[in-house]
Amino acid sequence: MQDKSEGTNFAPFNMPLGDGREVLVREITEDDKAGLLAAFNRLSADARYTRFMAAMRELPEAMLEHATHPAVEREFALVALDTGNEGPSIVGGARYAAAPGSDTCEFAVTVADDWHRLGLASKLLGTLIDIARRRGFRHMEGYVLSSNTGMRRLAKRLGFADVPCPDDATLRVVTLALQEGVRGCDV
Ligand SMILES: CC(C)(COP(=O)(O)OP(=O)(O)OC[C@H]1O[C@@H](n2cnc3c(N)ncnc32)[C@H](O)[C@@H]1OP(=O)(O)O)[C@@H](O)C(=O)NCCC(=O)NCCS
Repeated sequence: MQDKSEGTNFAPFNMPLGDGREVLVREITEDDKAGLLAAFNRLSADARYTRFMAAMRELPEAMLEHATHPAVEREFALVALDTGNEGPSIVGGARYAAAPGSDTCEFAVTVADDWHRLGLASKLLGTLIDIARRRGFRHMEGYVLSSNTGMRRLAKRLGFADVPCPDDATLRVVTLALQEGVRGCDV
């Protein structure tokens, strides 16, 4: 099987936000465990619920281990870091994962509560879309709580279709075709 990551290395870059601040966006590394855990611990109960669709008081070690060791061929994860005065801290993240051999990947995106509404999730997801497209995926999808209007609006703005989840009335499935030549970062 062709390695989807071949020739598509990701270079870190500074991303400007709506209030004039910047974050550093880079690929996650195995050294991000502590930072990711700290970011999880700072999330509100609401944000944890909408991200994981379960009441999560702790981030299990196995999830942390997996999150910081994406499978090169079918997973990719970005983190956004506040590099301000208090030292680098993770304030956002976006990732996709695909089943082995599948050309559809599933995304997830999370932004720290006090960094909302600055365009960070839109830009992270736009970047993730470009990476998934360059790595040969043909579809991206996400499972979103029906009540998560912010995420649904954001996905619609990026061109995702928003349809009911056949198995669960509390969920919506947002889907995007990743044809060549359609840009994901126009946000
Ligand atoms: C959903 C979530 C990811 C959105 O993150 P965000 O960074 O606030 O999203 P954005 O800023 O890109 O967009 C949100 C809103 O801010 C607005 N916005 C974007 N840029 C802006 C700017 N420069 N100034 C002011 N507002 C702006 C957007 O228009 C959007 O408004 P809308 O909802 O009216 O369309 C965030 O609320 C979150 O992490 N929730 C918990 C986890 C979750 O639900 N994840 C989704 C399931 S995978």
